Amino acid sequence: MFRKNIIIKITIAFIITAFFSLQLNAQRWDVPSNKKAKNSYIKFDNNTAKSGEEVYTKNCKSCHGDVGKANGNKTLNPQPPDLSSTLTQELTDGELFYILNTGRNAMPNFKNTLSEEDRWKVISYIRSFNKKYVQVLSKTDPSKSKLVKINMNFNAATNKMNLSVVANEASGPVVLKDAEVMLFVSRYFGKLQIDKTIRTDKDGNATFNFPKDLPGDSIGNLTIVAKVSDEIYGEIESQTKLTIGVPTDKPSLTAKRAIWNVLKLAPWWIIITYTSIVLIVGLFLVLIVRNLFRISKIGAQQ
Ligand code: HEC
Repeated sequence: MFRKNIIIKITIAFIITAFFSLQLNAQRWDVPSNKKAKNSYIKFDNNTAKSGEEVYTKNCKSCHGDVGKANGNKTLNPQPPDLSSTLTQELTDGELFYILNTGRNAMPNFKNTLSEEDRWKVISYIRSFNKKYVQVLSKTDPSKSKLVKINMNFNAATNKMNLSVVANEASGPVVLKDAEVMLFVSRYFGKLQIDKTIRTDKDGNATFNFPKDLPGDSIGNLTIVAKVSDEIYGEIESQTKLTIGVPTDKPSLTAKRAIWNVLKLAPWWIIITYTSIVLIVGLFLVLIVRNLFRISKIGAQQ
């Protein structure tokens, strides 16, 4: 009776674990349709696949292993799939790009660590393992991104930051409609995103709610970064300094006397105590060595 109970329990536990691990493995990617249809503006060929391989070796191989050899990191759950597998190759280029931009579970996102060009090149490398793959090129022309100007306007009364995005084409200004816009403030380590990611309206405008209480430098300057991503003009980034933060006089980490600071700022008594301790310990070491010498001499005499 007792044995039977245990067997039933083990079986149930086994089924539950198997169910959950299957769930994790079977989980596919839920990519918004406009992202799914995104295509590369770079034509995939042997050269792009070769540069993509370098990007892969540096950034992906530690988890995914060699493509086609199914020798990825087995300790992660879910496991990083072999990217030549049918399941992965069935994803669209846009989906692969989205996965690189967002990550999931142990899969990191590469949106800010790899340039858009490198993200496409690594996808080109992944596609080189699929003989049936036929590329659809995107309409994006990144050389046109230089034509784009992002104007930032801050309304102090409403605390709203308005961005207008315009491309100065030879034929006249063209507003960028339905382009993805992100706003950031530069911080010590990396960037802090402000509000949500939004899209420009039909006049090329995007409005963000801006927090009132962001600490700036001593006079309240903040470095604002806007990132725009457009179908045709590609990715555009623009930086401005605006005096809209709270003035904060933060002394540098080494300005005051502190345990990690330079010798110059140390109090005299610490220098004297420290030096004497070092000297006394040194003296004892000399004495010990001298006595050892003496002992060995006495030993030799007998
Ligand atoms: C720290 C480990 C790690 C690194 C580094 C990593 N990945 Fe992943 N990757 C994973 C894991 C784990 C998954 C599965 C995630 C999931 O399904 O939730 C994954 C999933 C993927 C998928 C989805 C495949 C599919 O069929 O579901 C793609 C594509 C991918 N990674 C590409 C890359 C590329 C390209 C790089 C390098 C630029 C990279 N990964 C770097 C761990 C990693």
